[in-house]
Amino acid sequence: MNTPHPRCDRTLAWRALQGHFEAHGRDLDLREAFARDPQRATLFAVEAPEVFADLSKNLWDLATRKLLIEMAGECGLAERRDAMLAGEPINTTEGRAVLHTALRAPKGAAPHSDDVHAVLDAMLVFAERIRDTAGSGIRAVVNIGIGGSDLGPQMVVPALHDVVHPQIEFHFVSNVDGHDITPVLARLKPESTLFIIASKTFTTQETMANAGVARQWFLDQGGRDIARHFVGTTTNLEAAARFGISTTFGFWDWVGGRYSMWSAIGLPIAIAIGADHFRALLAGAHAMDRHFANEPFERNLPAQLGLLDVWYRNFHRFTSRSVAPYHQGLRRLPAYLQQLEMESNGKRVDLDGEPLPYGTSPVVWGEPGTNAQHAFFQMLHQGTDVVPVEFIAVRTPSHGHVDLHAKALANCLAQGQALMLGKSAQQARGERVPTAAPGIAADRLARHRTFPGNRPSTTLVLDALTPRGLGALIAMYEHRVFTSGVLWGINSFDQWGVELGKALCNDLLPRWTSGDTQGLDPSTAALLQRLR
Ligand code: F6P
Repeated sequence: MNTPHPRCDRTLAWRALQGHFEAHGRDLDLREAFARDPQRATLFAVEAPEVFADLSKNLWDLATRKLLIEMAGECGLAERRDAMLAGEPINTTEGRAVLHTALRAPKGAAPHSDDVHAVLDAMLVFAERIRDTAGSGIRAVVNIGIGGSDLGPQMVVPALHDVVHPQIEFHFVSNVDGHDITPVLARLKPESTLFIIASKTFTTQETMANAGVARQWFLDQGGRDIARHFVGTTTNLEAAARFGISTTFGFWDWVGGRYSMWSAIGLPIAIAIGADHFRALLAGAHAMDRHFANEPFERNLPAQLGLLDVWYRNFHRFTSRSVAPYHQGLRRLPAYLQQLEMESNGKRVDLDGEPLPYGTSPVVWGEPGTNAQHAFFQMLHQGTDVVPVEFIAVRTPSHGHVDLHAKALANCLAQGQALMLGKSAQQARGERVPTAAPGIAADRLARHRTFPGNRPSTTLVLDALTPRGLGALIAMYEHRVFTSGVLWGINSFDQWGVELGKALCNDLLPRWTSGDTQGLDPSTAALLQRLR
């Protein structure tokens, strides 16, 4: 299929950016940039619904931003965004629309509104029934799903811990490795457990296998009413019915797995936080959708983050980005973002199937701060690779430990400062170091204690980690991934790369019993023999 807009490397702005990078990009020094322009922090601040971003500690200047926005114009970012929001089949390899935004739009404001709100209303009524523990008898909810049918709820439920139902435990089983489900089942009683079998396709090996184990456990423990204790969230209602599930909440093929936490896949979230908070989560995401749809790119946060990603990946050639939420509730956010970003943009051909001559998705990784500081921040400060870091700071905590909170936030800011400011050899030489080896030469020690600095970071600030704020934050990430995907000219909404391993696994499975190694490469054959 020929697309009317060129991909980024075929634009005039790309050429201009190459020249700009050579002249002012590669050697941009943040310390000098701030010294030259005290307004820099203001110039690169972006206010979006619920999320403030300080983009000033990034290796760009106003000219870079202007050229990136021109490139977005040439690549048709606005037109592609509008096509997505209007429900055009922009997922071209699967012939599907991409309408997760419709899941959080108010009634009548987006395509498929009647269907969306019918399921949402029914799901929220069900969630409230379960939350009435005296009536439902439910004290444990187990979500069985994987990838997009797991990571969203698994990330959101602990993030919104303050408003989670205090008398219901939430468990997430995803891995086909039995070490995942076994300890969970050991804690449960069949009469007080609700299993949610979450699978868009209702065919995924891991989910179906774990669902089977859960059903057998339920029966073995004397559980009676499967229909009452198992519900399905899926687009494949027939398969769910075949499994014996009569309560199902559906969604549609225009909801990608990794974009599905706003749909019926959000049922564990809805049970955890209740209908009103779930609607607030959707409202926050919708506010970010409106921001992405309406704000000029100069003030559009997801667009600017996506453009910066292209600048870093294709001009600076950075290969990864680290995310460090300074809020323990967001501990599963890096895992969530890994799927969102790498499954969406980890592609090597453009929309026409032509191999790409440039890098696409960076590796996304991270851990909450301050734990991360005591693990991999050494590498971020003094390693040989430059890794842009994304800090997430939440202004108001939901606990009363004022001192702890001040320490967490001070650490967050200090890390951004340290990355940028670094420490010269001269500074290092001037410091007393009681822990240094006795007799070590001062110059030699100073070289080890020097920080290059000029390492980029973004700081995202939320006022509080509320359902609305979290909804906006996640939607911001979705649109950022969309933005870089459009510029790279790729389909961010398919995932053919997960197919091959699944097919080979299906070939290997029967060999576990037969021991047949015929046709296998020698390495796999030997490993199979050793493992079976
Ligand atoms: O990993 C591949 C994938 O298809 C993801 O895109 C998806 O989120 C996950 O598997 C689970 O799929 P399903 O919801 O159909 O079980």
